[in-house]
Amino acid sequence: MESVSHLIKVSVPNYLAGLPIPDSIGGWFRLGLRDWLVLLPPTAFLTGLGYMSYRAFCPHGRPAPCGRVNVKIKKDVAKVVDSVDIEDISEKAVFCRCWKSDNWPYCDGTHGRHNNEYNDNVGPLIITNKKN
Ligand code: FES
Repeated sequence: MESVSHLIKVSVPNYLAGLPIPDSIGGWFRLGLRDWLVLLPPTAFLTGLGYMSYRAFCPHGRPAPCGRVNVKIKKDVAKVVDSVDIEDISEKAVFCRCWKSDNWPYCDGTHGRHNNEYNDNVGPLIITNKKN
């Protein structure tokens, strides 16, 4: 525990104090090659830390912004709206609710892969027409 304390209270502050971080914006343009090489490891560390934080809070890890449900369906429209007449459903229609189907708006079973990958429990909406 003492080594962790020393690391946080002494080693890291001493290391950071020794970095060639300029006091002004113009100072960044006066840094030499050696200064940039010294700044490379902490920059890489902070970049990696930022990336890992992003991955932790956005577990899908996809290029879509964090929290976005729809990553591929009709991305060229402002709102995805589909309409199906109940008379057009012969016996049963299975609609996707996971937004991952390649046969939108119908389920193609892709939700199973999503559930396995993300420990989720999404599934389709099944509409049955009992008049037929
Ligand atoms: S593929 Fe989306 S619910 Fe089945």
